[in-house]
Amino acid sequence: MFEYNIFTIEGHQTLTSEMAFVLSELDRQYFPTPWDLESWTHLFFGHDRLLIALKVDKEVIGFCLFDKSAADSFAHLLKILINPEYRNKGLSKKLLRAALINLETAGCSQFFLEVEEDNHAAQKLYSSAGFQIIHRKKDFYGTNRSALIMIKANKSHS
Ligand SMILES: CC(C)(COP(=O)(O)OP(=O)(O)OC[C@H]1O[C@@H](n2cnc3c(N)ncnc32)[C@H](O)[C@@H]1OP(=O)(O)O)[C@@H](O)C(=O)NCCC(=O)NCCS
Repeated sequence: MFEYNIFTIEGHQTLTSEMAFVLSELDRQYFPTPWDLESWTHLFFGHDRLLIALKVDKEVIGFCLFDKSAADSFAHLLKILINPEYRNKGLSKKLLRAALINLETAGCSQFFLEVEEDNHAAQKLYSSAGFQIIHRKKDFYGTNRSALIMIKANKSHS
């Protein structure tokens, strides 16, 4: 096994332009619905977000991004991604666990996400983290590309 390092990027001041570029390249290459570089550069403008990334040696090989709404205790998973070379080793589980702990500490107790119906790896990840399917949104990602809406609520909110 290899050594990895999970770290948090909090707010615009800690997101360098180099890091925004690295994340946008990972997103462009490996995420089904990527954002443009501009969105990554302005990731924290007008948004309260949590970004947790994962490095092996000096290379960023994955990340997890949530929108926070601590006022109403909700958080929305926007993206989670692991470089294909490092998949199926439990790394996304570690990333998601670290993000959920951070969000709970910040006062969030309810979490939701959308996942494409045929993305079985992601669905397995979310189920094992305690998310449950509550709805199927037809054509959410385009024609014949439906989304499953999944939520996880801590006991006091379920
Ligand atoms: C989804 C993704 C983040 C999973 O990352 P990963 O590090 O390979 O996942 P893990 O090794 O932590 O495994 C998580 C679970 O998924 C399962 N899994 C991993 N790859 C799988 C695959 N190809 N098919 C089915 N299940 C798979 C694992 O067995 C594990 O299940 P378990 O909890 O029952 O043991 C990764 O596939 C990815 O980056 N995909 C592209 C981006 C994406 O689709 N993100 C989600 C958008 S909603």
